Amino acid sequence: MNGKLAAHVVTFGCQMNEADSEKMAGVLRAEGYRLVSRPEEADVIVINTCSIRAKAEQKVFSLLGRLRDLKRKRPGLLLVMAGCIAQQWGEELLKRGRGLDVVVGTGRMARLPALLRSVRETGGTAVDVIEERAADHPALPVRRSSLKAWINIMFGCDNYCAYCVVPYVRGREWSRPLEDVVREASSLAESGYREITLLGQNVNSYGRGLSPTVTFGDLLRELDRRSGIPRIRFTTSHPKDFTPDLIAVLRDLPTICEAVHLPLQTGADDVLGRMNRGYRYDDYRRLFFALKEAVPEVAVTTDIIVGFPGETLSDHRRTLAALEELRYDNIFSFSFSPREGTAAWDLPDDVPREEKTRRLLEVQKMQQEISTEKNRALIGRRVELLVEGVSPKDSRRLTGRTRGNKIVNFPGRSSLAGKFVSVKITAAGFVALAGEIDE
Ligand code: SAH
Ligand code: SF4
Ligand code: F3S
Repeated sequence: MNGKLAAHVVTFGCQMNEADSEKMAGVLRAEGYRLVSRPEEADVIVINTCSIRAKAEQKVFSLLGRLRDLKRKRPGLLLVMAGCIAQQWGEELLKRGRGLDVVVGTGRMARLPALLRSVRETGGTAVDVIEERAADHPALPVRRSSLKAWINIMFGCDNYCAYCVVPYVRGREWSRPLEDVVREASSLAESGYREITLLGQNVNSYGRGLSPTVTFGDLLRELDRRSGIPRIRFTTSHPKDFTPDLIAVLRDLPTICEAVHLPLQTGADDVLGRMNRGYRYDDYRRLFFALKEAVPEVAVTTDIIVGFPGETLSDHRRTLAALEELRYDNIFSFSFSPREGTAAWDLPDDVPREEKTRRLLEVQKMQQEISTEKNRALIGRRVELLVEGVSPKDSRRLTGRTRGNKIVNFPGRSSLAGKFVSVKITAAGFVALAGEIDE
């Protein structure tokens, strides 16, 4: 035991939150905290929260209930709520007797140590959810421990999809200057990182509002040429802003991985319209096939929402038909969950819960077959893997990912971790593939 205070960080939600958790861990470490993996050992517990669906919120509040019990046993333990619920509800969260000591917003993470100090000094509570450009983000110290890192290239979202809370909890969209991103990527490359994922809610609109004007394609070209990172990924792409230039970048640049997450949401035009997505199914499929034609090996994944207000059975069938036509490598699918403050909150949530579940299962079952078939089609092929280390499920095997981001397990020496290897695929299931290394 040393004299340092211990901090534990719990993360809910998307990659944006995972990246933010690393930043908060970095900030706390710089302040002299040591990080622990068990909440029972912590003096400070940070819960980085997500409010995208009601279920995500419920998970946070049930954890908070358990931590309040822990706090009774460990007086002096401070509970911090960060992330999207914190940003949305702010001060109000302190009122409800939940045992929270600090509420810190998504753009104010740099202030976390100061907020904790003030709580220790005064014995009170502290809140800071001031909305402003998260200009401090890039400067936050980040604790990163692997081969792969995230880089925020933009913050917020201006798209206002009717179901989505993100524009309300992450604020207006703005992009980081191109040179800042390139500098961060280059310094990661120098410290041995082999893969970066560029993060934004809608990376395709990167550069809007910057002067001189740059596009996402420009950023990728600069990173490919100058960063020294051998594998570059990005997420999320909005179909309405996906340009022919970006297709060319994916086709031509060696470091840009052939993997695109392109949320469709639904195959029905009426529903797309009510969702305010800005494209029709036909626009989407043209884009999809143009991408596939230019980059045949591209892996495409998507997000689907079932049971949006007014979704009829024939709308639902259009979604199933879209999955059949497009044959994604994988999908993430969700039942519609009304979120307060969004446009869809005011629409009647008229698809019954059991029917939403039925539609969801139908979507998932269909995709499971398609994903398995697509994975099996890789049997016999040679693929390039970035080896991540020993497989968590089988200590005799290593695990790595293809450029398309598929998991492949194979027998090999642990000294290969961090290296690129060529592997022949020998078997495939729904989630992962197996292979043999080419010696
Ligand atoms: N910026 C990304 C996605 C962010 S949220 C994009 O534009 O695609 C991730 C996914 O959660 C969304 O694509 C959507 O499918 C789902 N989602 C968002 N809000 C939801 C809600 N209220 N109910 C159900 N699913 C939702
Ligand atoms: Fe939400 Fe739409 Fe923005 Fe994605 S693009 S974060 S779904 S509002
Ligand atoms: Fe991400 Fe959830 Fe916030 S999906 S942006 S953590 S609401």
